[in-house]
Amino acid sequence: MKIAVLYGGVSGEREVSLSTGKGIIKALKNKGHEVIGIDFDPSKLKELLQLDVDLVFIGLHGRFGEDGKIQGLLDMLNIPYVGSGVLSSALAMDKAKSKQIFAAEGIKTARSQSYVINQFENTEEIARSVREQFNVPFVVKPNQEGSTLGLTIVKEEEHIDKAIEVAAASDTVILVEDYVGGREVTVPVIGKQGSEQALPVIEIIPKNDYYDFDSKYKPGGSEHIVPAQVSDDLTKQLQEDAVKAHQLLGCDVYSRVDFIIDAHNNAIILEVNTLPGMTPTSLFPDSAQVVGLNYDDLVERFVELSIQ
Ligand code: DAL
Ligand code: MG
Repeated sequence: MKIAVLYGGVSGEREVSLSTGKGIIKALKNKGHEVIGIDFDPSKLKELLQLDVDLVFIGLHGRFGEDGKIQGLLDMLNIPYVGSGVLSSALAMDKAKSKQIFAAEGIKTARSQSYVINQFENTEEIARSVREQFNVPFVVKPNQEGSTLGLTIVKEEEHIDKAIEVAAASDTVILVEDYVGGREVTVPVIGKQGSEQALPVIEIIPKNDYYDFDSKYKPGGSEHIVPAQVSDDLTKQLQEDAVKAHQLLGCDVYSRVDFIIDAHNNAIILEVNTLPGMTPTSLFPDSAQVVGLNYDDLVERFVELSIQ
């Protein structure tokens, strides 16, 4: 097939996407496809149209890649692409909206409140409201961002203003959540809509305090344990919740669902990633490997699922 891989892009996760794109391009070439990689922004649309490809593989992360916008553009142009469509991508990218859906359907998620920045006079006014509702430690993050960019775990009250400013620098809405301490795990989901399956649960042991940007992408920044050493019951719960979350948002082909296991062994959902990282240190390929799908086979499987 003739496949265009869109990678790079303009979001805060550009560097991650460059690595994801490189991996996907190599895998598709290894599988015998004709592959054209495009470091994508709207100025490359003409180039994409002229290529007349059979399929687009979106290797972008974050805004203008993972949030439904490219998906909408491709839908209008009648170009098939790999992965989730407009609504599910947009919902998954919006942490506040997706958490409301999870909570309404019985998937446990940390208590949270979102703040629309321009509805407040200044940072102090937001900070006052946050103080009224949350006790440290709590988490402040941009509502639509990935790879923990702009995220602060606030452990001391005097750091609230700074945390709000950092999150507000990359979004017009910020999300404040109770901090849930515990084990970080994630569950890849793969399959056609209605017949998805969860891959083995992965536990992440970051070298830093938590699974921040460096732990995610520096080789050796974290250790992945697959399958995670958790009870059979909890594994089942995590996998069921992951597939349920994927389906609730209407995702397609693949996603990766992040959780914290709290001190009482509850699975607390963090988010669904509709375009999870596919870099050499990424989680999804590590889990697939355990069930016998190597990186190239996994990418090929995504293609097969997208053209069925
Ligand atoms: N947002 C990054 C790419 C991930 O979830 O893997
Ligand atoms: Mg993410």
